[in-house]
Amino acid sequence: MTTVAVVGATGAVGREMLRTLERRNFPAKRVIALASERSAGSKLDFNGKTLTVEKLGPESFAGVDIALFSAGASTSKEFAPIAAAAGAVVIDNSSAWRMDPDVPLVVPEVNPGALTALKKGIIANPNCSTIQMVVALKPLHDVARIKHIVVSTYQATSGKGHAAVQELKNQIAELGQGKAPTINVFPAQIALNVVSDWKPGTDGYSEEELKMVHETKKIMGDSSIGVTPTCVRVPVVSGHSESVHVTFHEPLSAARARDLLRNAPGVKLVEGEYRPGGEPQPIQAADTDPVYVGRVRDDLAVPGALNLWIVSDNLRKGAALNAVQIAELLIR
Ligand SMILES: NC(=O)c1ccc[n+]([C@@H]2O[C@H](COP(=O)([O-])OP(=O)(O)OC[C@H]3O[C@@H](n4cnc5c(N)ncnc54)[C@H](OP(=O)(O)O)[C@@H]3O)[C@@H](O)[C@H]2O)c1
Repeated sequence: MTTVAVVGATGAVGREMLRTLERRNFPAKRVIALASERSAGSKLDFNGKTLTVEKLGPESFAGVDIALFSAGASTSKEFAPIAAAAGAVVIDNSSAWRMDPDVPLVVPEVNPGALTALKKGIIANPNCSTIQMVVALKPLHDVARIKHIVVSTYQATSGKGHAAVQELKNQIAELGQGKAPTINVFPAQIALNVVSDWKPGTDGYSEEELKMVHETKKIMGDSSIGVTPTCVRVPVVSGHSESVHVTFHEPLSAARARDLLRNAPGVKLVEGEYRPGGEPQPIQAADTDPVYVGRVRDDLAVPGALNLWIVSDNLRKGAALNAVQIAELLIR
């Protein structure tokens, strides 16, 4: 039985971590909820009990076996090494450690073998958009070797945390009352809009887009895979959607891809002809575990290439579920 600390337990991902540990009957003898001093003392429900949130500090990790971090990159940079030095294995949801060569970046369905090399006692959970894409594409890569991915994301507001969802809801209410929307969390109005929502990276790409480029290569273990991303935020609460065009070294038909995806781990293939109002939709994926793959089509212009529509709950497989699955592999 393990002692688990959840760092950022009051946040959108942290709350989902607690729900995921509970739902999957994770064998924890003790769960410690940590956050900033803003919410120290507040209460969270867990497994029929009440957890009192403690302020994160250097002494928080005594006796902790697994520390699930989701409190932003600066908190992870400072406290993940402290937790590891205290003997915990850290599973970090932030971007702080993902590209460190001594830190495995793990999606259990794709590269569980990377968990054998724990040089720093830290494991990184990938970016939510990358996780759902690689879960869907790995079975195709294994057979036909991916050459190039062109991906456009439609990312939900919960990917930006609790306050972002609240801002979307407030703006919808304000617009309904004929008022100007209040903008604090997003860089522009998000209700009834589509927004570029991340800091600039390089070469005209956002940081989020560059994460998809670099993390995909690291998780798939193939630096030759080309990734051309465009990421936008849409006024959805939970569930990221992605339009993905893939070319391969060996031509792959849509029929063969569907065969490969039908029993792929973590994937739910949505079959059937195209229809208006068809699946997968983010509101159907919200609060569920799978990566839904639908609209698997032969490309009309590029022989042997495919187009897919991939949808998953960013707080579940995109964050909390993936982290808890890693924890499950550690205690097996
Ligand atoms: N949302 C997603 O879909 C998603 C997916 C993958 C990864 N992530 C990553 O997960 C992390 C958290 O995201 P979120 O969406 O859950 O954000 P959020 O809803 O804003 O929650 C942030 C959490 O971090 C805590 N926190 C902030 N500063 C802290 C500090 N100095 N010390 C201790 N705790 C601190 C907050 O505690 P208080 O209550 O005390 O403020 C809160 O529990 C981010 O790094 C994000 O990039 C998010």
